[in-house]
Amino acid sequence: MEVMNEKKVIATLEVDGKKHEFPVITGTENEVAIDIKNLRAQTGIITLDPGYKNTGSCESAITFLDGEKGILRYRGYSIEDLAEKADFLEVVFLLIFGELPTKNELDNFKTDILGQSDVNQDMKKVIAGFPTSAHPMGVLSSLTSALTAFNPKSVNVDSEEDMYKAIVKTLAKFPTIAAWTLRNRNALPLKNRDKNLGFEESFLKMMFEKPGEEYKSNPIVVDALNKLLILHADHEQNCSTSTVRMVGSSQAGLFASISAGVSALWGPLHGGANQAVIEMLEEIEKDGGDTSKFINKAKDKEDPFRLMGFGHRVYKNFDPRARIIKKAADEVLSDLGVNDPILGIAKALEKAALEDPYFVERKLYPNVDFYSGIIYRAIGIPTEMFTVLFAVGRLPGWIAQWREMRLGKEPIGRPRQVYIGENLREFKDLENR
Ligand code: CMC
Repeated sequence: MEVMNEKKVIATLEVDGKKHEFPVITGTENEVAIDIKNLRAQTGIITLDPGYKNTGSCESAITFLDGEKGILRYRGYSIEDLAEKADFLEVVFLLIFGELPTKNELDNFKTDILGQSDVNQDMKKVIAGFPTSAHPMGVLSSLTSALTAFNPKSVNVDSEEDMYKAIVKTLAKFPTIAAWTLRNRNALPLKNRDKNLGFEESFLKMMFEKPGEEYKSNPIVVDALNKLLILHADHEQNCSTSTVRMVGSSQAGLFASISAGVSALWGPLHGGANQAVIEMLEEIEKDGGDTSKFINKAKDKEDPFRLMGFGHRVYKNFDPRARIIKKAADEVLSDLGVNDPILGIAKALEKAALEDPYFVERKLYPNVDFYSGIIYRAIGIPTEMFTVLFAVGRLPGWIAQWREMRLGKEPIGRPRQVYIGENLREFKDLENR
């Protein structure tokens, strides 16, 4: 790389003795990237980067993450400050529109969301088609897509008003259908949001209220949920967010793009890890609680077992979300008087892994999902709903990233490949094969 003058830096690529120059761009936090937009046009060659470990797919002003230093910021605000001081809907507004709302803006935003929170009654027929055994994430993805049927008009992204309405509608209806996935599982009647309650309380009520019983939420649980939702709200270009941007780049609608994000989040290497962590801890407990046996399994390259809740594509020092959640887990469990044996196993596993050279050398630390499941479990959320809760938290991030992508008029996402299959072959008739 060569500094041309104070500002302009170029990178030179030499292929077969021929030199090609590319601009180098620097982000506001000094991240440096070689701009290869014209690489193929200029040289006829492409880059190969499975898993996009070194590829920036966009420029984004939403979330800053420094994996080495363990920094996470939404629109410039530290995750520590936001988790401690903010309300989830303030963070939602911040992520999507770029600034913390004024009192007036926040009140209007809440009112607008409330006004759109009822879900079309015909959606109940859609959910009735799922057996109670269906995984809530599969149901959530399908229901999100089904919302398109009741909101067929595509969003005019050039109209600020149209954009706002589509965003509010999605924020309003998604938590209701998310809660309904649990009610369907428990064969409970489906109800719309209680408009007298705040976001977290009404969400808890929609999930847990039983016919004939008055549901009262616990403020400790409400507070823990607020924190968890904030910590999950965005994480720049992760798998589900990149999926939302990719699907949206074809100009598919917002509900369709979010539905694809839900499916991407479901996998155990991404949001599904919170469910997998608890299942792993339960398995270790059932097996007698010998954590070293499972540490050895995770290290054995012949064994497909991985320590769920450990490691991260970007964080190579610590996951700042995990630190906050670990503290919150201790507080919630002690406030609720929960004595969960799997917490002891989690702590022993964490200690053993942090001291083991295999994990130390590979920079594998507990991630956000290692402790989130313990809190969800303590506040009475069934294991299969954990990833749904992650989706409710991540929704504003998906929307913010989708909006940024559409307003930025980004081109359709369409990676290239290096073909390694057969060369041209002659077709053989069936009897000659
Ligand atoms: N247990 C055992 N070994 C591991 C683990 C683990 N959890 N994670 C990574 N490794 C090893 C891996 O085998 C590889 O070893 P080697 O270099 O000897 O081949 C090395 O560490 C690097 O792993 P990688 O798979 O190349 O790293 P990645 O960046 O592609 O994967 C990850 C990141 C999160 C998918 C991975 O660490 C993992 O599978 N973790 C468990 C699942 C999990 O907790 N996911 C939640 C992520 S946080 C929530 C979210 O934002 O999605």
